Amino acid sequence: MCGIIGYAGRDEAAPVLLDGLERLEYRGYDSAGLALFDRGGALALVRASGKLAALRGRLLEEMEQGLDAHGTVGLGHTRWATHGAPTEPNAHPHRSMRGTYTVVHNGIIENYAVLRRELEGKGVVFASETDTEVIAQLLEQTDTGSPLETLRKALPRLEGSYALGVLYHTDPETVYCARRQSPLLAAKIETDEGTAGTLLASDAAALLPYSREVYRLEDGELGALRADGMRFYGMDGTEHFLQPMVFSRHVTAADKGGYVHFMRKEIDEQPEALRRTLAPLLQKDGLFLGQGEAALRDPDGIRRVLFLGCGSAYHAGLVGAALMEKLTGIPSAAELASEFRGRKPRLDRHCLAVVISQSGETADTLAALRIAKEQGARVLGVVNVEGSSIAQESGCVIPTQAGLEVAVATTKAYSTQLSVLYALATRLAELRGDAGPGFLREFTQALRRLPGQAAAALHTSEGTVRDWAAECQQAQHTYFLGRQLDYCAAAEAALKLKEISYIHAEAYPAGELKHGTISLIEPGTPVLAVCCQPEVAAKTRSNMEEAHARGAALYCITAEGIPHAALAAERRLVLPGTHALLTASLAALPAQLFAYHCAALKKCDIDQPRSLAKSVTVE
Ligand code: F6R
Repeated sequence: MCGIIGYAGRDEAAPVLLDGLERLEYRGYDSAGLALFDRGGALALVRASGKLAALRGRLLEEMEQGLDAHGTVGLGHTRWATHGAPTEPNAHPHRSMRGTYTVVHNGIIENYAVLRRELEGKGVVFASETDTEVIAQLLEQTDTGSPLETLRKALPRLEGSYALGVLYHTDPETVYCARRQSPLLAAKIETDEGTAGTLLASDAAALLPYSREVYRLEDGELGALRADGMRFYGMDGTEHFLQPMVFSRHVTAADKGGYVHFMRKEIDEQPEALRRTLAPLLQKDGLFLGQGEAALRDPDGIRRVLFLGCGSAYHAGLVGAALMEKLTGIPSAAELASEFRGRKPRLDRHCLAVVISQSGETADTLAALRIAKEQGARVLGVVNVEGSSIAQESGCVIPTQAGLEVAVATTKAYSTQLSVLYALATRLAELRGDAGPGFLREFTQALRRLPGQAAAALHTSEGTVRDWAAECQQAQHTYFLGRQLDYCAAAEAALKLKEISYIHAEAYPAGELKHGTISLIEPGTPVLAVCCQPEVAAKTRSNMEEAHARGAALYCITAEGIPHAALAAERRLVLPGTHALLTASLAALPAQLFAYHCAALKKCDIDQPRSLAKSVTVE
C-alpha cells in the first residue's frame, strides 16, 4: 500500500524524492515523510500528516527555519495507515531511539507487539504506534556496525511482509533495502559518463521516468544503493546479480489533460483502452490470445475455471465465470482472492486459474496465485501493470492495455479486464468446439464494435445519470439489483458509488431482495436495477415492481431490445444495442458516471477517496 522511494546520486535528493512520492501517492495518502543526509552527514527528517502537499509545505517551513535539507541521499514514504492513526509521529521514516537506523516500510509486521514488548523490556523508548518503528529499534539493538550484516541478523525475527528502505547513521552515501513479500524495485540513472545515481521504489511508476530497466528484488534479498551503482545479496551474504526487466514504455507524469479529476478522464479513455486491449486479440482471421494461448493448450483437459481477484477485479471475475460457463459449459466460479487463500482449495492441472489484477501487486491476489500454482493449476494472469509481481509470477499473461490508471476507483482497467475475459471465454469455446461458427462470428463482430459502442454509451448517458445523481446524492442507502450478468454489473456499480461518494450502496441478485433486504426499502429509497439480459428481464421486472410497491425511487439501466416501456422505473437509461452478453460492459459506463456525479455533487475527494489506496499490498 504505502509508497517507498529512495535515492542515492549526485543531484539534490529532496526534489527527486518528492517527485517520486507524487507518482506513488496513489498507494497511500494519509501522511508522508522524507529523511536525507545533509551535506555534513547529519540526518534531516521531515514528516507531515495529510497529503503530500502538507509535506512539501512542512519542508519549506523547516528549511526557512534553518533545516539543511540539501543532501544527495535519502528516503521518502507515503503512508496508508495500518498500525496507528495517520498522525505525524506515526508517519514514516521512523528512526531508532539513538538515531542509528532510519527506516521506511511497506507491509505488515505481524509479531510487532511481541517484539515491541521485548525491546521495551530492554529500555527502548518508542515514539510511535507503528509496527515499522519496531524494525528500526530492532536494527539498532542488533547493530554490528555493518548494516547489511545487521539486516541479515535482524530480519529473520520479523514475521509478516516488508519492503524496506534503510539509512545508517555513519554511512551517508548508501540506501540499504530488503524485501519479503512486498514489492521492491531499483533502477540506475545512466548518463554518457556512467551511472549518475540509483533509485529504490515500491512501484515501477516512480522509476520509469529515469530508466526503462528495472531491477526487482526477490523475497529474501537485500541491497545497497550508492550514487555509482548498486549491489544485491541473499540472506546468506552471497552476492546476487539481478537481471533487469525492460519496460516497453517510458512513463511521463500523469496529466489530467484538462479534466478536473483523473477518474473522469479515465472514464472517457475507456473506448480507446478497449480498442488497444482488443486489437491484438481480434486478429483478421479470428481470436488469438498471444501468451494466453499457452494456458489453453489441451483445452478439453480443462474441467474447472476459477477467476481470482479482489474488489472490482473480482466483479470482472463474476462476469468471466458467468460467461465461461455459458459459452463452454465448464463449471466456473469467481472467488475473492482474500477468502480463497484462507481455504485449502483442491486444484489440479485440470483447473484453469485466471488471476485478475490492475496493479498486479494486490497481496491477496498474489497469494491466491501462488496457491493455484502450488496446487498444479494452469495459471493465466489478466494484468494491467507490466512487470508487476502478478504479471511476473503468472508466467502467462494477457495484458489489459488500459494504460496508467491514477484514480483510486478503477474504471478503464475494469472495462479492459471484461474485454479480455470475453475474448478468453470465446476462444476456449472455439478451441473446444463448444460454440458453432455462426455464434463465434457474431460474437467476435460484436466484440469489435464494443469500443465504438462504449463511446456512444458514454455520450448518451451522461446527462441522464447527472440528473439521477442530483436526486440521489443525499441518500443514505441505495440498492442495486440485477440477475445473472446484470447482477455482476450491479455489484460493480454499487462498489463504485460507495467508494467515492460514501453513500451506502448494496448490490443484490434481484431475486434475493425479498429474502430480507426488501424490509430496508422505504418510500424514496433509491433502487437502481440493471435489466439488460433478455432471458431474465421479465423476472427482474417483477422484482423492480416489488421495490416500487414499497415506495422505492426506481432507476433502471436497460438495453435496446428489452421491452423497457414495461419496466416499472420512470427513470430509464437505454444502452446501445449490442450482444446481450456484452451489456455488462456497457452498463458499467453509466454506473461509473453516476457514482462520479454523486461524488462530485457531494464535493468528495474523487481521485483519492478516504481510507483507500490504489494498490493494496497488505493482507
Ligand atoms: C475499486 C477498486 C478496487 C480494486 C481492488 C483490486 O474501484 O479499484 O476494488 O479493484 O483493490 O485491485 P487490483 O486490480 O489492483 O488487484
